[in-house]
Amino acid sequence: MAEQKRKILVTSALPYANGSIHLGHLVEYIQTDIWVRFQKMRGHDCIYVCADDAHGTPIMLRARQEGIEPEELIARVAEEHQADFAEFLIGFDNYHSTHSPENRELSELIYTRNRDAGHITTRTITQAYDPEKEMFLPDRFIKGECPRCGTADQYGDSCEACGATYSPTELKNPVSAVSGATPIEKESLHYFFKLADFEPMLRKWTTAGHLQEEVTNKLNEWFAEGLREWDISRDAPYFGFEIPDAPGKFFYVWLDAPIGYLASFRQYCERTGTDFDAYWKKDSEAEVYHFIGKDIIYFHALFWPAMLSGAQMRTPTAIFAHGFLTVNGQKMSKSRGTFIKARTWLDHLNPETLRYYFAAKLGSGIDDLDLNLDDFIQRVNSDLVGKVVNIASRCAGFINKGFAGRLAAQLPDAELYRTFVRASEEIAAMYEAREYGRAIREIMALADIANQYIDEGKPWVLAKQQGAEQQVQDVCSVGLNLFRVLITCLAPVLPATAEKSRAFLNLESLDWDALAEPLEDHRIETFQPLMTRVEAEAIQAVREASRQDLETTAAPAPVAAQGSPLNEDPIRDLISYDEFAKVDLRIARIVRAQAVEKADKLLQLTLDIGGETRNVFAGIKSAYAPEDLEGKLTVMVANLAPRQMRFGISEGMVLAAGPGGKDLFILEPHPGAQPGMRVK
Ligand code: 2FM
Ligand code: ZN
Repeated sequence: MAEQKRKILVTSALPYANGSIHLGHLVEYIQTDIWVRFQKMRGHDCIYVCADDAHGTPIMLRARQEGIEPEELIARVAEEHQADFAEFLIGFDNYHSTHSPENRELSELIYTRNRDAGHITTRTITQAYDPEKEMFLPDRFIKGECPRCGTADQYGDSCEACGATYSPTELKNPVSAVSGATPIEKESLHYFFKLADFEPMLRKWTTAGHLQEEVTNKLNEWFAEGLREWDISRDAPYFGFEIPDAPGKFFYVWLDAPIGYLASFRQYCERTGTDFDAYWKKDSEAEVYHFIGKDIIYFHALFWPAMLSGAQMRTPTAIFAHGFLTVNGQKMSKSRGTFIKARTWLDHLNPETLRYYFAAKLGSGIDDLDLNLDDFIQRVNSDLVGKVVNIASRCAGFINKGFAGRLAAQLPDAELYRTFVRASEEIAAMYEAREYGRAIREIMALADIANQYIDEGKPWVLAKQQGAEQQVQDVCSVGLNLFRVLITCLAPVLPATAEKSRAFLNLESLDWDALAEPLEDHRIETFQPLMTRVEAEAIQAVREASRQDLETTAAPAPVAAQGSPLNEDPIRDLISYDEFAKVDLRIARIVRAQAVEKADKLLQLTLDIGGETRNVFAGIKSAYAPEDLEGKLTVMVANLAPRQMRFGISEGMVLAAGPGGKDLFILEPHPGAQPGMRVK
């Protein structure tokens, strides 16, 4: 049914202009692009904008490191990003940069409106400063020893060994990651956005259907912690926009990043004569959606609506957050060859196969999504090549050869066709709700029905029989009509294959409304192969190339780190033999095991390692009752730095194996082993 035409503006998060697009990023661009293409196919006025996120310290330092101006770096990266997006068929209506005149103007506007309404305040703060490079150091650019466990070489905000979070001033023996100098403390005046001014508005907004349920729950935790003032200024040197009334002070990158959505849209409006205010004025009826990763919810669900509201502008209709990508069940890893750049994929594989696989796995929630490479091959080959494309290739030859490309004058089995059309409306509702996985399952179930229909009709047998011509034309005409429904439903996911299919079916366009009328007495074109199988060798080649990338792009860590990079995986997977040799594995006797109050997963273990006892909290409660453990021998890491947990200090780690839950087994050494023995 034709709905009323909606005015929709859609964005994806802006990628930083200092790194390549990788598969982790692509989850979001593919998710968004499918939704936008779907809306366009449904006849809505849907505009999709994005931009490079070009400001901030890491970009400034990366440019310095390369000996170029930041402008040159961001221009180069912009070109690379846009080429990758285009080949993955991400159909932006406009792609811009946060380092643009539109963004400067809009950032100043939003800032001054908030300032004039009293939502900005200033205060002097003390921060780490690199006396050699004469710059303030963001937390991620200071390294030192963890104040809690003493592990060396930890970033200024958190310890990777014990999980402690702290302020960089607490680090022991800190050094600047930029110069190696010892940072000093220095005062400076900073500008703050008074987020708490918006608490009533935000409490209302965050519970008014603009957010996913899981996100609303997370926000309640943040409200409970209290809304703190947000530091929106950075001192020179900084690559960004100077604050209008504050020489030498710059907007923090996260202030002007979301405004980049508006800047890109403004550029689109100027190019196409669209009315910007119709979308952004306070009472606008247009819909605005931001697709984001779950790591940047705070910025989009709190700061962003607050800033907009303080500037007398409309707030988003909804924020759609998604989870992270894992590959083969683990975080993307350079050493495993699963930190795959968009370009590496494009060098070896068809981008639509990834679009399809992600679609098949995406839902509307914030769960992580796994790209299992074996499953990927199997699924693409069996679903797309084996089922969908097969329908067309099985029928086209008979129609082209025997009937000069003409479909039957009247479609038999009209009820079957109508079933498909009705299902296509249900599939449309699934796309609208971002339940792509469900949509794909439904489409594949229909593809099975279509193939079964052809199997039963056996046109290849009928074609050899005298007088069965009409039956051949009928079966194949039904088959191709069903194919048309399926490829229409898949078009948001597979735009290139859909386009080839449209040309083959000799249609003006593929859209849902047109499906109501079957193709009868209609001429088709000759069939060209629509998609080829994925070969395991291509996946091997991608992994190998990704591993090699590791060697050429192992850049100094600080430059890669900014905000919360999506799936950024520092090179920590391979350890040297020397590092391994440092791990002190010992036989331990479990002297005592007891439940921990208010902890669902933990048991508190007292371990005897030969004359010394250790207190260890182990997450094995789902698999063992305490009494089953007492007296057992196990293997523990005896030289793990002590870790402060909510329930006490844990002094080591017990080794267990298994997928988790009930299936978790502590490692049990030979009974001849004695507590304290080293495990080799
Ligand atoms: O987290 C990131 O990768 C940021 N560059 C996203 C910015 S989204 C928006 F706010 F601009
Ligand atoms: Zn630590």
